[in-house]
Amino acid sequence: MKAVSKPRVVVLSGAGISAESGLRTFRDGDGLWEDHRVEDVATPGAWARDPGLVLRFYNERRRQVLAAAPNPAHLALARLEQEFDVDVITQNIDDLHERAGSSRVLHLHGEILKARGCDAPEDLIETDGRDLELGDTCPRGSQLRPHVVWFGEAVPAMESAYRLVPKADLVLIVGTSLAVYPAASLVHLAPVIAPLHLVDPAAPSLDHPRLLVHAEAAAVAVPRLVEGWLAEVHQ
Ligand code: APR
Repeated sequence: MKAVSKPRVVVLSGAGISAESGLRTFRDGDGLWEDHRVEDVATPGAWARDPGLVLRFYNERRRQVLAAAPNPAHLALARLEQEFDVDVITQNIDDLHERAGSSRVLHLHGEILKARGCDAPEDLIETDGRDLELGDTCPRGSQLRPHVVWFGEAVPAMESAYRLVPKADLVLIVGTSLAVYPAASLVHLAPVIAPLHLVDPAAPSLDHPRLLVHAEAAAVAVPRLVEGWLAEVHQ
């Protein structure tokens, strides 16, 4: 008997999906950058000027992530794998999708719980949740930095993302202002025949023939959508 393949879902998530876990978004009123200029903490120039400040900034982000827990939106996406072939492409550096149980998560902008040596970007090191300090080095001897993509840096995971999105049977975009490129360009690769669901209380405008906007919080809308899709498959 021929195996029937599961429908493919591609999820593109941003800071808004983790808002109800207590992690602040970037471009809402209480945005993360409020106390810091982006140029001071999240650029190669900032790292060259004041690496101690950059490490302290991300140490604080790491502690916040460790204190947070997945919310119903993350958990629902993990349940979706029961009947769908799910790829989560996230701009978030937290690990809440993984902790919720999602098995394929592509982090476009890095992972705060990992570090890398400045001279060995390909060797990722688990921080085990510890702060990074000046003087912490990788096995090759260079200063460790957070495994985070800064403004002005390349986004190596885009290559994989570019391959995944066009194969989707259904696209779900959750909690992203779609203001940051190249991540935002992925929406233009969504197949025109695939329904595209957008969950965001302040949804960015988007042009797609099968667009469905849910102007609600992720923890409300995503579980409802997921249960609906699972029920359709079970009919
Ligand atoms: N549920 C769903 N969406 C929400 C919620 C919520 N509870 N709360 C806020 N949002 C929405 C906002 O309306 C906004 O459209 O989440 C979006 C968050 O947008 P941004 O703060 O711009 O975050 P994001 O799109 O992930 O930013 C992209 O920018 O600073 C960089 O590298 C950083 O990965 C980040 C990238």
